[in-house]
Amino acid sequence: MAKRIAVLVSGGGTNLQALIDAQGRGELVNGELAAVLSSSPEAYALERAKRAGIPGYVLPRGDARAVTAALVERLRELDIDLVVMAGFMTIVTEELFQAYPNAVLNIHPSLIPSFCGVGCYGLHVHEKALAYGVKVSGATVHFVTEECDAGPIVLQRAAEVLPDDTPETLQRRIMEQCEWKLLPQAVSLFCQDRLKVEGRTVRILNAE
Ligand code: GRF
Repeated sequence: MAKRIAVLVSGGGTNLQALIDAQGRGELVNGELAAVLSSSPEAYALERAKRAGIPGYVLPRGDARAVTAALVERLRELDIDLVVMAGFMTIVTEELFQAYPNAVLNIHPSLIPSFCGVGCYGLHVHEKALAYGVKVSGATVHFVTEECDAGPIVLQRAAEVLPDDTPETLQRRIMEQCEWKLLPQAVSLFCQDRLKVEGRTVRILNAE
């Protein structure tokens, strides 16, 4: 049976779009985008979900514990197998990972363990990479655990940092060259049961 995927969003939803497009091309093998849950009613991602015919939901506001409880309840109602954080800006508590152990994926726009951790999100990540002077940056898909950006790494891909980059141009290159490819790949691998977590290491099993 296809695994039911919920995508958590807060903003523009280009990573959600990459998942929708991949599904359209038949590339989310054994996976089905079943719901989009947004922390904000204004998120453009909800519009993308609507156009793709995927049910969209807005999460209630409140403290992290209350929001997480509402989120887990909704995920259970929807019979979700995989939770994907795609630009989800809300802090959640451990109840989510306890309810979905090794079944919550996040995409982060750097090569973890560089430029990540508490407060390092959105354009800040690219500002930090430029300030440090790195020549490559990239994106990471990882399982989410209680420690911010520190869960087992599923996939990583690098992109060049160019001399005249601004945080915006670097962000765009990393999205195009890394994020929009990696996230559908990781989701598809999960849905085929091809990700085996062994401590910090994720082993990618061959297709059957
Ligand atoms: C992406 O850069 C993602 O890596 C980060 O937040 C951004 C979300 O962009 N976690 P979008 O909403 O998918 O367009």
